[in-house]
Amino acid sequence: MNNTNMTVSSALDGTKTKENLRQAFSKEAEAFAKGSIFSSLAGNEGNITAQRVMLEEADNDKRLSELWLSYLDELGDTLENLAELSALKEALGGNLYPAMAEIADEEGFDEIAEKMRLAASVKGAQSRELKSEGDRIASADALYSDNPETEWHCRLCGYDIKGNRPPERCPLCSYPLCFSKRS
Ligand SMILES: [Fe+2]
Repeated sequence: MNNTNMTVSSALDGTKTKENLRQAFSKEAEAFAKGSIFSSLAGNEGNITAQRVMLEEADNDKRLSELWLSYLDELGDTLENLAELSALKEALGGNLYPAMAEIADEEGFDEIAEKMRLAASVKGAQSRELKSEGDRIASADALYSDNPETEWHCRLCGYDIKGNRPPERCPLCSYPLCFSKRS
C-alpha cells in the first residue's frame, strides 16, 4: 500500500472522517458509474454535448474516487489490487448475489432472482480469472533476475537460454512455464 498515506490512514482509525471518506468514495464511485452509463445513453439519443459533459465529469468522479481510496490506504500494487478485486467478486458471487436471489424469490421477483444467479456465476468466473492473473504475475516475478546473463533451463526438453527472465514458452518444446534458473 501507499507509504505516504499509511500514517494518515492509521490516524484515521475509528474517526468519523474515515467513515466520511468511505461514503465520499462510495458516492463518487456511484457518480462515476452513472455518469459513464448516462453519457452513453445521451450519445445514443444524439445529445452529443450532454454526452461529453457527463463523460468528462465521470472522469473527474473517478479521480476523486481514487483520491479518497488513497486516504483509506486501499490502493495497492497490481498484485494486491488483483487480490482485492478477486475477493470482492468472490463475495458477490459466492454469498451476496445468491442470498439476494433467494430474497427476490421469496418476494416474487422471479426475473430479478434469475438475473442475480446469472450475475453470481459471472462474478465467480471473474474472481477466478483475477486470481489466476495474480498467480501468473507472482510466478513471473519469482522468475526474474537483475542479471541479463542469467541462464534459464527448460526442465522438459533441456533447452537453455540467457536473459533477465525466461520466455513464457520454451522456443524448442513450446511448453509454458517450464524454465528454472541454472544454479
Ligand atoms: Fe523446452
